[in-house]
Amino acid sequence: MHLDEIEFKAKDGRIFTLRSLTPHDAEAAIAFMGRMYGESPFLSRYGDEWSIDIEDERRFLERALLGERRLMVGSFWEGALIAIADFLPISSASKMAHRCSCSIAVERAFHNLGIGTAMMKILIHEARTVGYEQMELEVVSENEAAVALYRKLGFVEYGRLPHGFKNRDRSSYDLLSMFLTFKGGSPTPLP
Ligand SMILES: CC(C)(COP(=O)(O)OP(=O)(O)OC[C@H]1O[C@@H](n2cnc3c(N)ncnc32)[C@H](O)[C@@H]1OP(=O)(O)O)[C@@H](O)C(=O)NCCC(=O)NCCS
Repeated sequence: MHLDEIEFKAKDGRIFTLRSLTPHDAEAAIAFMGRMYGESPFLSRYGDEWSIDIEDERRFLERALLGERRLMVGSFWEGALIAIADFLPISSASKMAHRCSCSIAVERAFHNLGIGTAMMKILIHEARTVGYEQMELEVVSENEAAVALYRKLGFVEYGRLPHGFKNRDRSSYDLLSMFLTFKGGSPTPLP
């Protein structure tokens, strides 16, 4: 899906832009994800496990842009990509056509400014608009900021997988399964 560029104000008053990513963003997206996998212990890979060919990434972003029921958005500060969020169908089977999953990552230097909230609100709004009835995700139980963000937006926990991520130091994280239903209630207001 294509989303035109919009502006939103962060908690510190700075104005950020947000738009759907295109194949032209492939290099920036690869670098961004490399930084995120390197800096966050709560994502599914280590930084040194992230290697993707630029042409594959271009094709991936093109598919996201052309897909009618998937969206990949980036937030930018002074032209630099500082956050990515997306939703996509859980399955192509019609019995699961009402369900999408989502993910988000914001660069550490921009945490706690409301960027994650703004991006999730846009994801939720667009997912409702294209007919999904619920949004689902998995999150490390110790990831307090993410859990707080999802709960604030109405996500509820429906399960817990012990030992979901096993770290190189042999410690492990449980994964919480959370979902947000769009049925009933009023639409999430845009930022
Ligand atoms: C989770 C993440 C996307 C949040 O992005 P963000 O831009 O900082 O989010 P926001 O500023 O909109 O909101 C964060 C909320 O968490 C709260 N928070 C931050 N740290 C917290 C903590 N330790 N305990 C409880 N709440 C916390 C903030 O107060 C804020 O809530 P508020 O707006 O009600 O005050 C970001 O931390 C991130 O990218 N982390 C690394 C990647 C990741 O974990 N992605 C999610 C994988 S499921």
